[in-house]
Amino acid sequence: MTEIVYQLRNLAKEYAGRRVLDIDFLDIYRGEVLAIVGPSGSGKSTLLQLLNFLESPCQGTITFNGEVYHSARLPSLEVRRRVTTVFQRPLLLNRTVWQNVFYGLALRNSPEREQRARQALNQVGMLDAAHQGALSLSGGEGQRVSLARAIALQPQVLLLDEPTANLDPYNIRKIEDIIKDLNRDQQVTMVVVTHNIFQARRLAQRVAFLMEGKLIEVASNPAFFESPQDARTAAFVAGDMVY
Ligand SMILES: Nc1ncnc2c1ncn2[C@@H]1O[C@H](COP(=O)(O)OP(=O)(O)OP(=O)(O)O)[C@@H](O)[C@H]1O
Ligand SMILES: [Mg+2]
Repeated sequence: MTEIVYQLRNLAKEYAGRRVLDIDFLDIYRGEVLAIVGPSGSGKSTLLQLLNFLESPCQGTITFNGEVYHSARLPSLEVRRRVTTVFQRPLLLNRTVWQNVFYGLALRNSPEREQRARQALNQVGMLDAAHQGALSLSGGEGQRVSLARAIALQPQVLLLDEPTANLDPYNIRKIEDIIKDLNRDQQVTMVVVTHNIFQARRLAQRVAFLMEGKLIEVASNPAFFESPQDARTAAFVAGDMVY
């Protein structure tokens, strides 16, 4: 039986009285890559903020590793640390590449810090740049260091918000390969938000389509792309949806 990491039930999030996310039902399986696609403003980043417990829902529950959480019962720091996010616009510290990766490990007093930092930088192909100032990196390099910083923490769940936005084909390929390796070799459960349906198709085992805060369709890959059940999904997949 497939193990379920997250169970979202009747989950809603409002900002200033406006409902931006309203998900009746979503399960996320252990070890899968789930892609979240949808137009700008459809609630993709908000969904990640709920999955990493940085925001609290105004309604409904998130069961994580079998424990039920809601607005009046949020997980402990230890539980939240099992989830790591690479944000849509990741901020690097004005330090070296090495210090950027090492910092989170030091903060957590993680064992084998040097080894983990070295391994993570190696995994993203940035070990040679360890002593370079992080703010002098190119966009793609910076994105890879952000990913290394997350990988080094060895999370159970990795949430990636537009991990290749504005990158060139070389860096897109590189980051997609890292994501695939992590999933295959370390069975990290991943939720990847992407505007790019081709990327979703390359990376994900399942795809969820969000529109105006609602889940329109969740299906496995390639069924999501080849036989979408909802007309709106079909329009989005065909590139006919203006957003
Ligand atoms: N902290 C906040 N305060 C108020 N409104 C917010 C906040 N965060 C998000 N919103 C609103 O919630 C809606 C969903 O935003 P969200 O960032 O989740 O969209 P998205 O799907 O990630 O969009 P994009 O593809 O442009 O990143 C938007 O209308 C946004 O303005
Ligand atoms: Mg977003």
